[in-house]
Amino acid sequence: MANIYLPDIAVIKDIIQETSDTKTFVLEFRDSKIKKAFEFKSGQFVEVSVFGVGEVPIGISSNPLKKENFEITVRAVGSVTNVLHQKGIGDEIGIRGPLGNGTFPVDEMTGKDILIIGGGIGLPPLRSLILPILDNRKKFGKFTILYGARTPGDRVYKNLLKKWSESPKVEFHETVDVADDGWTGNVGVVTILLDEIEIDPNNTAAYTCGPPIMIKFVIQELLKRGLPEDMIISTLERYMKCGVGKCGHCAIGHKYICTDGPVFSYKEIKALPEG
Ligand SMILES: Cc1cc2nc3c(=O)[nH]c(=O)nc-3n(C[C@H](O)[C@H](O)[C@H](O)COP(=O)(O)OP(=O)(O)OC[C@H]3O[C@@H](n4cnc5c(N)ncnc54)[C@H](O)[C@@H]3O)c2cc1C
Ligand code: FES
Repeated sequence: MANIYLPDIAVIKDIIQETSDTKTFVLEFRDSKIKKAFEFKSGQFVEVSVFGVGEVPIGISSNPLKKENFEITVRAVGSVTNVLHQKGIGDEIGIRGPLGNGTFPVDEMTGKDILIIGGGIGLPPLRSLILPILDNRKKFGKFTILYGARTPGDRVYKNLLKKWSESPKVEFHETVDVADDGWTGNVGVVTILLDEIEIDPNNTAAYTCGPPIMIKFVIQELLKRGLPEDMIISTLERYMKCGVGKCGHCAIGHKYICTDGPVFSYKEIKALPEG
């Protein structure tokens, strides 16, 4: 049996500086067999090893339908992520995964309106859902993306945001908490954007990811607008160690965020002890 704690080697093929503290790493497995076999679902994550420093869980941010490589978008916040940010193209890191069984439900939502609400560094895991929906746009009803960031400079995927704002395939709105001189768009928390759109509560699936405080208010607003609890889908973030349901670090009540999640419906979240 393969060792679940042993990472596979991935080579950094490209690095995109998204904001002052956030980079996207384009990764490819060194072993061609592993590269070929690697498949993931929207919402899954990997454990990223920076050798000699440590291992951190990071959501996969690229399109699961694109197989040649995969991407992670990482904010430098501490010991492992800061050293990862010092890596260059051609450097090697370790990858365990894909991990997580609770993923963003997609096929089940065929025919429904899709509403995506991301905050800050919460957009990367949602991008793994947005890109395949855009590739299969006809399968869904209205498609709306709402994005909030602290400042204009903190917005990740700036080129993609521009593309979405001009695309007839998606209704895109964004806001920042604090504007700068060049910003002419919305100012305020992401929930203000819900007043700019029409939601059909009987035919909408909403997906959210971002800071816990944002998720709390987004869920409250969606419930006020009549969305059923099982149509509000969110990620839960907890400190993780093993990522594979062995160490218990990520447990909330009887659920392990690493293996039962990291994606849950609000109906499931509400049933958790801290729900
Ligand atoms: C399922 C999952 C998916 C994630 N996806 C992403 C992603 O796509 N991009 C990204 O940049 N980050 C993501 N994170 C968060 C990322 O794992 C942490 O930022 C990382 O573990 C920090 O490690 P560090 O050693 O650099 O920082 P540390 O030195 O361990 O800590 C630095 C600071 O970050 C805080 N911190 C550490 N771990 C977490 C955590 N899990 N949640 C919240 N705060 C934490 C600490 O309290 C401390 O204030 C994800 C976390 C989980 C559980
Ligand atoms: S991180 Fe070890 S059980 Fe979830």
